[in-house]
Amino acid sequence: MITLTKLKKSYSIGKRNQDVLKEINLTVKKGEMLAIKGRSGTGKSTLLHILGGLEQATSGNYYFYDTDITELSYKETTSWRKENIGFILQNYALIEEKNIFDNVSLPLLYSKKSKGEVKSKVFSLLKQLGLEDKAFQYPRELSGGQAQRVAIARALINEPELILADEPTGSLDEETEKLILNIFKKINQEGKTFILVTHDETVSAICDRIVKIKDGYIEEDFQ
Ligand SMILES: Nc1ncnc2c1ncn2[C@@H]1O[C@H](COP(=O)(O)OP(=O)(O)OP(=O)(O)O)[C@@H](O)[C@H]1O
Ligand SMILES: [Mg+2]
Repeated sequence: MITLTKLKKSYSIGKRNQDVLKEINLTVKKGEMLAIKGRSGTGKSTLLHILGGLEQATSGNYYFYDTDITELSYKETTSWRKENIGFILQNYALIEEKNIFDNVSLPLLYSKKSKGEVKSKVFSLLKQLGLEDKAFQYPRELSGGQAQRVAIARALINEPELILADEPTGSLDEETEKLILNIFKKINQEGKTFILVTHDETVSAICDRIVKIKDGYIEEDFQ
């Protein structure tokens, strides 16, 4: 499903150039659940952003099935992302002016689904995540863990093929973390591919594979 070849990412700040990802080669099969580990600042979020088309690689190729994402225009990348990627980012990025229902249903705004279908999908997902009584509240009225679950609901609502998550259970208590991981595992068993950045052993334990990044390269790849 995913093939990264000689992927490189550098940032230049003024005259200084920083090579964050030096040469990443990676293949991910459809239906895999992969954990990315590595110390702070090693480029895990950067890699995830490239995988989701939020950032461009400096060089190298990124194949998603037969499409080289590095060759797409900005517009093409955006529509590819909307169709295929569910993002759970490090900051939840909920829209403060919209209630929880509207935040979650946002990715379905331009879909062909009827209002009734959207409503039942949103409520069923909120229920799974223990948030059904929060539908008409606003992000500022939620705890950190609840906001994170809303972000998860929003990432899953349009049933993307690839779900990318950056420390998805970072601010959750043990019980909520278990709940979320069970949902992830269930969705994964339904055939969705997951790539998760995590430091958490509980999270990597449910993954099929762990990739460790160090100094811009993949240092270890456990199957
Ligand atoms: N937009 C940017 N401009 C310049 N440098 C950046 C930018 N984004 C990230 N970096 C740098 O790239 C490096 C990798 O950052 P990244 O966020 O990918 O690390 P990370 O592995 O996700 O770390 P953490 O575990 O702390 O989240 C850091 O040194 C960071 O300062
Ligand atoms: Mg990060």
